[in-house]
Parts: sequence; C-alpha cells; structure tokens
Amino acid sequence: MEIARIRGGLPLRGKVRIEGSKNAVLPIIAASILADGACVLRDVPRLDDVNSIRDVMLSLGADIRQLGARSMLCDTSGIRSSEPPYELVRRMRASFLVMGPLLAKLGYARMSLPGGCAIGSRPIDLHLKGFVQLGASVCLGNGYVQVAAPRGLYGNRIYLDYPSVGATENTMMAAVLARGSTFIENAAEEPEIVDLANFLSNMGADIRGAGTNLVRIDGVRRLQPVEYTVIPDRIEAGTYLVAAAISGGEVFVENVVPEHLKPVMAKLRETGARVYEQNETAVAASAGRRPLAVDIKTLPYPGFPTDMQPQMMALMCVACGTSIITESVFENRFMHVPEMKRMGAHIKIEGRSAIVRGAPRVWGAQVKATDLRAGAALLLLATRAEGVTEVSGLEHIDRGYVDFVPKLRSLGVDVERVTVT
Ligand code: UD1
Repeated sequence: MEIARIRGGLPLRGKVRIEGSKNAVLPIIAASILADGACVLRDVPRLDDVNSIRDVMLSLGADIRQLGARSMLCDTSGIRSSEPPYELVRRMRASFLVMGPLLAKLGYARMSLPGGCAIGSRPIDLHLKGFVQLGASVCLGNGYVQVAAPRGLYGNRIYLDYPSVGATENTMMAAVLARGSTFIENAAEEPEIVDLANFLSNMGADIRGAGTNLVRIDGVRRLQPVEYTVIPDRIEAGTYLVAAAISGGEVFVENVVPEHLKPVMAKLRETGARVYEQNETAVAASAGRRPLAVDIKTLPYPGFPTDMQPQMMALMCVACGTSIITESVFENRFMHVPEMKRMGAHIKIEGRSAIVRGAPRVWGAQVKATDLRAGAALLLLATRAEGVTEVSGLEHIDRGYVDFVPKLRSLGVDVERVTVT
C-alpha cells in the first residue's frame, strides 16, 4: 500500500501549473463519439479518471491514443458497440456520460448503473428523464439500464428538477443530433458545461445559452472532428489556493481562468487571505495569520463548489472562531470529518451542516482518504499539523489530481509518497 507521509509546519511557496479540467475532459471525450472521425484534445490531464473513460471508449471500439504529454487522439469512427462492460463502468460514475452520445449516434445503449466516489446515492433519474423526453425508451433491470431510440431523437422542452451537471451534459450530447429544437430549463451553469458546449459547437452543433439556466440546442445532421483545448481545472487551482492559506504561505496558480475561481477567491478573502488576479491566467493567494472562520454553503455554480468543501473545511479546522459548513449538493459528503477529528479538529455534524470550531493546533495522525476531494483536504490539513501525518487511500487522490505529492513538494511541503506493507 502507498501512503503520503507529511511533516507539517512549512508554508507553501511558489508557482504551480494547473492541468486541464477533469470534469470538463470526461464529457468531452464522451462527446467525441458524436464526431465522424478523429478529434485531438489538448491539455488532457494524466488522471486515473481519464484512463477510466479511455478504457470505456476502447471497449466500445474507439481508437484512443496519447499524443505527447498532454494531448489525446480520440478516433471514434470504429465504435460498433454501445454496451460498455460492467468492470469498467463501475470504476467511475462519469462513465455514464457515454450514454447520451451513444444514444444519439447509434440509437441504443446499455450499461450497468455507475459507480464512483461514495458521496451519496447519486441517482441518474434526471439523465434518464432527459432521454425519455427526447423520445427514447428506457428499461431498467438487474443493475443495468438500457436506452433506445431506433427512429432517432426529437427535440423537446426539458425541465431538470435540479441543475445536475451530468444530466445537463448527457441531455445536451443526446440533443445535438436530434430533429428539431431542445430547450433545457434549469440547466446547470458550471464552466464545464460551457466547455462541452464550445467543443460541440466547434464540431458544428448549434447550442445557445450554455452557462445560463436555459440552454437551446437546434439539432444538426452531423458533427465534424476538431482539435480542442480543455479549460483549466478550477478545483485543482482552488485546492492550491487553500493550501497557501492553510499553511500561511504564498502560492501562484498558473494556467487558470480567474473568472471560474470567483466563488473560491471570494470565500478565501473573507478568511483574511490576500487573493488577487496576477494576470489573465494566474491567481495568487497568501496568508500570514490564522484564517478567520467563515460560513460556507455549497451550491450549484456560481455558488460555492461542493468539490471544494472538504478543502475549505480543512482551513476552517485551524481558523479563529466557529464556522458552519452546509453541504446542499450531496447528502453524504462529510466522510472526511472523522479523519480530520483524528488530527485534533473539533467538528460536529448536524444534518447537512458541520459545525467546525477552529483550533490553533492540529496534530499528525494516520488517516485515510475516503474520496477524491476528502483526500486532498487531509493532505492540506497535514501541511499545517504538528508532527507527521500518514494519508492512505491515495488511489482516490490519483483519480483527480495530477502529481499531487510532487507538486506539493515543489511548493516546499515536506512530503513523500512511500510504499508500506
Ligand atoms: C459533477 C462533477 C462532480 C461535482 C458535481 C457537482 C463530473 C465528472 N463530476 O458530478 O465532481 O461534485 O458535478 O458539482 O463532472 N442528482 C439527481 N439525479 C440525477 C443526477 C443528479 O438527483 O439524475 C443529484 C445528485 O445526487 C446530487 C446532485 O444532483 O445530489 C448534483 O449532482 P450532479 O450535478 O449531477 O453531479 P455529477 O454530474 O454527478
């Protein structure tokens, strides 16, 4: 087993280049199914989740190749199957994103209900509702879901009960080749939705309103392959900004879109950190004192991202005062709390809120990453802890952070990745 061993107490200082966005590239790889030929994607992060969707695509008959360090060729012209195997799909919930494009392109798809981070029940009812309203039939049974539209899909008005990121993406991808116009109401507004829409539009799709709560898609007959550069990962960037604040250092995140970081930057400023846009693609955060406690409620974009909640909780563990952190997106996203308590944090969970009483000191301990962002949060807290922290469950972190341990080390953290028996 591999662990990250961290000796806390050193402030993080320096620059870090942010990778392409995991949550943008996964639907974009899936959307390449819609193109008649080979797309080239740039700034693709080397992540286990990207490997998972690549394996799903390979299982369908696509030819996916790495081109240099950060580019990927996705030739989907050989796709004949629309039934990815269970062993691949269960590795990652986002595998379900191939469903919409397969339905649009081949008129049929069948896959097992997806797996992924254990942060709630995470149903797919909204995805399926979108498909049904576009004219598909849906059949559920034995842990599998089957969607079919042998005579093609038809545009419709679709109201999402919740602005789900994945359901908005899957519906958009299904609708681009449908006959007529589709309106997605109460659509998610995340930057990753806009990136997917830009990718599809470059291929020839007719999409308006992505990034607002009403997306209009006018169906087209076919889509061309394109070259496309994925947006930077706002969650990776936010994680390093919080790392600067928690350790009392100064970090510059480069290759970012500052606009996408606004919710995190605003909250960090409330904690007393100095956060500013250095230029159009770089943001800096620094902090000299203990952070001030702030209340946080996670919300769909442009609200505070749920994927930054555990990292901000780590910061609040060492803040002056008491903070109330309310998780409104996922119902079970406090699994990092018992681990943080092992490090001396004072946290009490009441329903969907965590009451965090900031403490001047936390201590190193043996802790386990229970999911991707929880794992990152534990490493951040460890940079501030007295003594040595050993974090296990690194496979979760590898799903979403490229070279997290080496990048922290380059910023001055005393951390190493070691194999233990
Ligand atoms: C995406 C992100 C994930 C992020 C989340 C919220 C990817 C690959 N993952 O996940 O990192 O934390 O957005 O910003 O982009 N829901 C339903 N029915 C559905 C779909 C969702 O009830 O059919 C609920 C979920 O259970 C959850 C909420 O909606 O409570 C938000 O989920 P959603 O926005 O769909 O998140 P994902 O697309 O899974």
